[in-house]
Amino acid sequence: MILAPFDRTPPTVARAMLKLAGLRQGERLLDVGCGDGVIIAEAAKLGATAVGVDIEARLVRQAWERCAKLGLLSRVHLVVGDYKAVKSWEFNVIALYLTTRGNIAVLEDLLSHPSPTSQLRIVTHDFRLPMLEPVRVREFGYRRFDRRTLYLYTI
Ligand SMILES: C[S@@+](CC[C@H](N)C(=O)[O-])C[C@H]1O[C@@H](n2cnc3c(N)ncnc32)[C@H](O)[C@@H]1O
Repeated sequence: MILAPFDRTPPTVARAMLKLAGLRQGERLLDVGCGDGVIIAEAAKLGATAVGVDIEARLVRQAWERCAKLGLLSRVHLVVGDYKAVKSWEFNVIALYLTTRGNIAVLEDLLSHPSPTSQLRIVTHDFRLPMLEPVRVREFGYRRFDRRTLYLYTI
């Protein structure tokens, strides 16, 4: 299933997502559909271990190049393939910039693999997780006439 077409989260928006999620050094983040790796790189810059999976090999290569240029590869794991290849959901934070249908598909998969971490934070960009109430919502003025809405959920 295609979760969403490619669109990049701008770096300032990615940083706002990670701040909303309270991502800390030493934590583990997963970006489902990581595209060319902006969120992954920003997470690794904070000292987190960042895992990205994307169905498009070309984008994963670009993500790898982005992280390599920044010297972040020791904290980054990138996987080419369908998100269903993710068998363990042992993460502190999951970042999603997908369609609503994509978010639902990922959440259903996630809930069928219980996470051993005490609390999982899910941060989404512009699209809600329809079955859950967000614990925080942040409007982010990215540019004039371009506002992004960020949602934080905890499970
Ligand atoms: C809107 S983009 C988000 C990219 C990145 N997360 C960001 O925020 O910059 C959605 C990404 O999901 C990927 N994608 C779509 N379906 C997928 C699937 N079934 N498994 C893994 N990745 C998928 C697309 O290739 C695309 O790069």
